[in-house]
Amino acid sequence: MARITASVYTSHVPAIGAAMDLGKTQEPYWQKVFSGYEPSREWIKANKPDVVFLVFNDHATAFSLDFIPTFAIGTAAEFAVADEGWGPRPVPKVIGAPELASHIAHSVIQQDFDLTIVNKMDVDHGLTVPLSLMCGQPQEWPFKVIPFAVNVVQYPVPSGMRCFKLGQAIRKAIESFDEDVNVQIWGTGGMSHQLQGPRAGLINKDFDNRFLDQLLADPEALAQKPHIDYVREAGSEGIELVMWLIARGAMADVAGGAKPTLKHRFYHVPASNTAVGHMILENN
Ligand code: DHB
Ligand code: FE
Repeated sequence: MARITASVYTSHVPAIGAAMDLGKTQEPYWQKVFSGYEPSREWIKANKPDVVFLVFNDHATAFSLDFIPTFAIGTAAEFAVADEGWGPRPVPKVIGAPELASHIAHSVIQQDFDLTIVNKMDVDHGLTVPLSLMCGQPQEWPFKVIPFAVNVVQYPVPSGMRCFKLGQAIRKAIESFDEDVNVQIWGTGGMSHQLQGPRAGLINKDFDNRFLDQLLADPEALAQKPHIDYVREAGSEGIELVMWLIARGAMADVAGGAKPTLKHRFYHVPASNTAVGHMILENN
């Protein structure tokens, strides 16, 4: 049986990727950001999954206003690194897990969630920056990745509750896969940030820290937060945080199992225009 062993939550600012690619991680501004991921890199070496189910958002890179899937699962054997305007990042291509991904698609759609099946998709900073933060700069990524794209760019976006329930369906899907596969689920994006309009630059440390507290302690209550509260309190791009509820909904305690163990928590302002939040939870 495949099983979810842990969940990882992290922001995905593109400038973090650029800082790594351009060798700037030791500069004082960036050093503070990366110091928060040093324990995570040790942790993942000791807890290497076979597959990461990586919940992220595409930023009008693979998709555009022509097609806007709410939830899209990557079933391909591999995914190229996207060119977001400065050439593709110099990071390894992403190797998929087509059999597990197809099984999850089948199971989750039969559990009444509509997923878009994606057989070709270049992945942008939403996916590659979390990989870089957690793994550094390897020749190849140390595990397979199932990219799972959520629309948080163009309204209407899915509610936190729908994301939380989808996480529960993904857990059931993974646990009904016959092979012994160690899966981690990652929720990425956030925390508070707004890139546009009169409120550009908005950061809300109180909101972010309450979100981290509640994500661990009472995710079901957190899932009831209306989408408009994210936008009001955490900025227009703060809505990316609903993706963390997919990962949290897939943890064992939500299905009546034991509470997860908090392995690491980190918060830092700023990275570019964004508050960086990060958490690692292990299932027991
Ligand atoms: C920034 C943050 C994002 O989430 C993003 O997608 C693009 C830019 C930023 O803070 O610069
Ligand atoms: Fe983003």
